[in-house]
Amino acid sequence: MIKTKIAGVGYYVPDQVITNQDLEQQMDTSNEWIVSRSGIEERRWVRDGICTSDLAFEASKKAMKAAKVSSKDIDLVIVGTITSDYFFPGVSAQLQDRLDLHHVGAFDVKAACSAFIYALSIGDQFIRTGVCSTILIVGAEVQSKFLNISTEGRDMTVLFGDGSGAAILQKSDDESGVLSTHLHCQGANVKNLWMEAPGSAENCQMTNIKLEEGRHFPLMNGREVFRNAIVRFPEVIQESLDASGLTLDDVNLIIPHQANLRISQAVAKRLGVGMDKVFSNIHKYGNTTAASIPIALCEAVEEKKISKGDVVVLASFGAGFTWASAAIRW
Ligand code: ACO
Repeated sequence: MIKTKIAGVGYYVPDQVITNQDLEQQMDTSNEWIVSRSGIEERRWVRDGICTSDLAFEASKKAMKAAKVSSKDIDLVIVGTITSDYFFPGVSAQLQDRLDLHHVGAFDVKAACSAFIYALSIGDQFIRTGVCSTILIVGAEVQSKFLNISTEGRDMTVLFGDGSGAAILQKSDDESGVLSTHLHCQGANVKNLWMEAPGSAENCQMTNIKLEEGRHFPLMNGREVFRNAIVRFPEVIQESLDASGLTLDDVNLIIPHQANLRISQAVAKRLGVGMDKVFSNIHKYGNTTAASIPIALCEAVEEKKISKGDVVVLASFGAGFTWASAAIRW
């Protein structure tokens, strides 16, 4: 059976470090509260003038270099993001232009924290059916420009960071590659993690949005997110193992979406695995939504936590609610 391999990965984060102490100056919060509730010590926020497509571009160049491919090799671009530069078109169109990818298809996937695995799953289908030979998939976010940076928005604001990660997909020439992908959504939870406006639910778009209502900021029902995440992560990880007849003992590394260290710890406990098997870099970058899995994957590769032949499981949970997994033989 044809398999899809990840031929190269790359990530990019902005240079501006925002520590918990920096946030203490802007809202009623504390380093102790943030670390104990989330494990986050600092995150990267873009400087003025930088947007999501800039981050996506930098990560893509690195992934292309790692995979030893040039612009002329790429025949599809898929970008996961909920923070595109413009309301439309998507970041994928800007990226396609900046990378000089002559007229190849490009589209965004708006599946929030699950978007990178959704993009991987879509790309996997195109590779395995032989429709495409080299696909660029990206997760990129600039969350910082959408957050309510005040005491009112502190529950969300302290969690999120900016960044991007990218991967090149190609046909595998050996036993390595994507073993299976699994995508899920439960739309009944739309309002438990969302940004309501602007959107087509508004009659007169921006003119009708009362800024003091704060509906243009992302909002989260933290307890519901936590309650669902710690069930869905283990469930979808197990689903990926069952699909290939594997057990947790066969898994070398689980790379979960970096939502919150407490969520990852609860997931590890439910699975009965140690945190040494669960990759975490949330202390450095916070939650970067669609970018968190590719950034983590790239760091795991750089830190040599993944070797040829290893089984790696990617898993996500986020707005929608969506959740997803991918089992990969490296
Ligand atoms: N700094 C200080 N205090 C804060 C902050 C903050 N940044 N944010 C909220 N608080 C306050 C609240 O106002 C509340 O105060 P009150 O009790 O006076 O009303 C109190 O802290 C609530 O804290 P807890 O006692 O810990 O409440 P709870 O146990 O409900 O936990 C929490 C809330 C931390 C949000 C929890 O529900 C959680 O961890 N949820 C997961 C959310 C998450 O990690 N999402 C990730 C992003 S989404 C994704 O990627 C899937």
